[in-house]
Amino acid sequence: EENHRESLLIVTGYAAKFFQQSLWETDAGKSIALSYFKERGFRDEIIKKFELGYSPDQWEAFTSQALKDGYQQQFLEETGLSVKRDNGTLYDRYRGRVMFPIHNFTGRIIAFGGRTLKSDKNVPKYVNSPESEIYHKSNVLYGLNFAKKAIREEDNCYLVEGYADVISVHQSGIENVVASSGTSLTVEQIRLIGRLTKNITILYDGDPAGIKASLRGLDMILEEGLNVKVVSFPDGHDPDSYVRLLGSTGFKNYVNQNKKDFILYKTNILLKEAGNDPIRKAEVIREIVESIAKIPDSIKAAVFIRECSTLLQIEERSLNTELNKIRQAKH
Ligand code: UTP
Ligand code: MN
Ligand code: MN
Ligand code: MN
Ligand code: MN
Repeated sequence: EENHRESLLIVTGYAAKFFQQSLWETDAGKSIALSYFKERGFRDEIIKKFELGYSPDQWEAFTSQALKDGYQQQFLEETGLSVKRDNGTLYDRYRGRVMFPIHNFTGRIIAFGGRTLKSDKNVPKYVNSPESEIYHKSNVLYGLNFAKKAIREEDNCYLVEGYADVISVHQSGIENVVASSGTSLTVEQIRLIGRLTKNITILYDGDPAGIKASLRGLDMILEEGLNVKVVSFPDGHDPDSYVRLLGSTGFKNYVNQNKKDFILYKTNILLKEAGNDPIRKAEVIREIVESIAKIPDSIKAAVFIRECSTLLQIEERSLNTELNKIRQAKH
């Protein structure tokens, strides 16, 4: 079993080296992929640190080299790097994509995300490795191996949506950043962070999907007993694009000045949606109290009830009545 896992890890490690060589040492890699990274503002140092690469735009470049170098077909398939045709031969899953290796907690490469360089809407933007014995995506946070030290030191973890967000934010000097890439946030991922810090700050995309995901993530984080704050970005921006817009210092200032307590964040969003409709406003209050009801620590919950009372101009007593109703309904 351990041998099997190790064989898979050796193959993914080999593949990462292959994609890196293709990025730095081939004409196509340099002219297409390296220039793409440069345009995104990724500097050499960060490209090397995150072991980014390029998969040649051919059907079998990787697979045939790997077989030639003695890697077994079985492991190429299990890691998802190669895909089997009906006739039994293999072809490369990743072709003509910039490659983001996904590392485990100790820094071994367990999977890949490959981004297309085409703007064709019919081509999936990212192709990710399938689940395997070494890659259970619900248990993995992209960038955690590079972030863990800073997460402990800062006693906070920034949570973003994408690969590029992790890299840009890290490059800007904020190294305590991870992404739940390729999946919506899971309880396992929150527990992984919870071993390093009890404080999470969500930095999701400023589009409707990002806002929706942030509200869901926020409740899950509260339920795990962790503290959560949110920084939002204008629609059309994500942390990566915002670092490029503001520069490193400007971005850090923006994050520090726009960190909002989850209640304030959620209230603002819901009240904006509710407009002046009093019935919908009452609904907002209930939804906020529902988030507070998820907090296991009752003293903390009481503090947030007080904050909510001030923010929404509602008596604490009626909020507590509502809170108790929700709690009783759950038991
Ligand atoms: P986004 O669509 O926000 O992409 O998806 P992005 O990270 O900003 O990508 P760039 O800046 O255009 O390169 C956020 C994350 O969701 C996953 C990826 O992990 C991505 O980084 N995703 C997105 C996929 O797995 N597949 C997709 O087709 C799209
Ligand atoms: Mn096995
Ligand atoms: Mn998005
Ligand atoms: Mn994005
Ligand atoms: Mn982006």
